Amino acid sequence: TFPPRVFSGVQPTGNLHLGNYLGAIQKFVALQHQHECLYCVVDLHAITVAQDPNELTRTIREVAAAFIAAGVDPKKNIIFNQSQVSAHAELAWILGCTARIGWLNRMTQFKEKAGKDRENASVGLYTYPVLMAADILAYRATHVPVGEDQKQHLELARDIAQKFNNDFSASISAKGYGDAFFPQPEPLIQGAAARVMSLRDGSKKMSKSDPSDQSRINLTDDADAIASKVRKAKTDPEPLPSESAGLEGRPEAANLVGIYAALAGTEQDAVLKQFGGGQFSAFKNALVDVAVAKLGPIGAEMKRLVSDPASIDAILKDGAERAHAIAAPNIAAVKDIVGF
Ligand code: ADP
Ligand code: NA
Repeated sequence: TFPPRVFSGVQPTGNLHLGNYLGAIQKFVALQHQHECLYCVVDLHAITVAQDPNELTRTIREVAAAFIAAGVDPKKNIIFNQSQVSAHAELAWILGCTARIGWLNRMTQFKEKAGKDRENASVGLYTYPVLMAADILAYRATHVPVGEDQKQHLELARDIAQKFNNDFSASISAKGYGDAFFPQPEPLIQGAAARVMSLRDGSKKMSKSDPSDQSRINLTDDADAIASKVRKAKTDPEPLPSESAGLEGRPEAANLVGIYAALAGTEQDAVLKQFGGGQFSAFKNALVDVAVAKLGPIGAEMKRLVSDPASIDAILKDGAERAHAIAAPNIAAVKDIVGF
């Protein structure tokens, strides 16, 4: 009963990397042909940890540039930044009164990001998943393309939507909003690269927030940097297997094969059929070629776009107006349902 609508966000925090591209941004491009899509630079999420203001301004533009450079059409889709649409913060408060403390206590990302000094983490870092639920539900979005690390947050968003619908079911129907006001947003977590691992250590995900990890492939890396990082990627001494089953217990090999498949737009099995039995060095050369072919033009276009900040700001402003036009009536309805 809810019209299909796609929402997803990327934080403007440091370098965008291959994981962000394969887990999220590449999927944004594919979805724009079938659905109405909102792609958000989630700057309110970014400040859950300290940010330098000038750097934040720059990275907001850089993330918007990455969406566009990767192929997201800003006319067909809504590209905007979160802080420019008040619905996000407003709905987050209301949904924060729906979500339970016990639910948030189970969130593994908070535990990882807060580390040992949990008492000193910001309240925003703790309630981050509530804001994420508000991001999605402000637009009554039905589909959310994300990497696997966001699975638990998506489940929480579904729980919050359901509890709001239940808590206010009488008011929702009495005021003519049907049986349920919020949809149950579905995560779109698919493909060989839903979780890209670090090239240094196959047990950790590739992440913006690990400054010590020099192996991360950034979207703005040039061909030489990409080649050197791929060639240095950790592997094991065995040749590549010829079937997927042979990747079990070999996280580094599985990661590189997954990355190749996602970049080349093919399946893991097809990659193994081609490279199985061979040495990593030959496979790595082929991986460098597909990575440079795919990422090179995106990085170059990002650099071109950020050199004209006024144009990006105009796109973000237009996007914010269009996003607001969708969210504002939903917020008005939520207030009506709650009794404000
Ligand atoms: P990061 O986790 O790098 O700080 P974000 O939290 O802004 O980045 O995530 C932006 C999108 O990129 C999310 O959909 C997230 O699931 C996805 N993503 C982040 N890291 C990876 C990864 N290593 N593999 C696949 N997807 C990822
Ligand atoms: Na993340």
